[in-house]
Amino acid sequence: MLKVRTVIFIAMSVLVIAGLAFAGGDVEKGKALFNDPSLGTNGKSCSSCHPGGSNINGQKNSFTIMGKKQATVKEAINFCVKMALKGKPLKEDSEKMENLAAYVKTLKGKKRKRKLIKGC
Ligand code: HEC
Repeated sequence: MLKVRTVIFIAMSVLVIAGLAFAGGDVEKGKALFNDPSLGTNGKSCSSCHPGGSNINGQKNSFTIMGKKQATVKEAINFCVKMALKGKPLKEDSEKMENLAAYVKTLKGKKRKRKLIKGC
């Protein structure tokens, strides 16, 4: 009996660990990256233009930034990394991108009518 329990315990542990690994990004780490100017080269961070995550609704299925349609949240993020931060686009499956995307998906900021953002 003990053996069966041990096997079940190990199987459960493996599932939990695998689940964590594939659960996508880490929201807290993504939030830190959102405030981190090292993603780009011009001293700005995402929060320079999106303070507190404003102006982003990460729960949409597609995004239009400056008239250009971005099919996924990752494409939208990379658009801003390239255009707004003058940085190198992040690899879609990199840990940084997963974390950033996880954070951006938690944002529900309303779009403002007025363009408050300069320099993009
Ligand atoms: C220089 C200013 C600027 C910076 C810095 C910037 N963005 Fe943006 N971002 C914009 C503008 C402008 C838009 C388009 C907003 C609009 O159309 O209302 C936008 C739109 C977005 C959208 C789509 C939002 C939506 O709801 O459609 C996402 C996602 C986004 N940005 C993520 C990021 C991330 C992540 C970073 C950091 C890597 C970042 N942005 C840095 C200016 C910036």
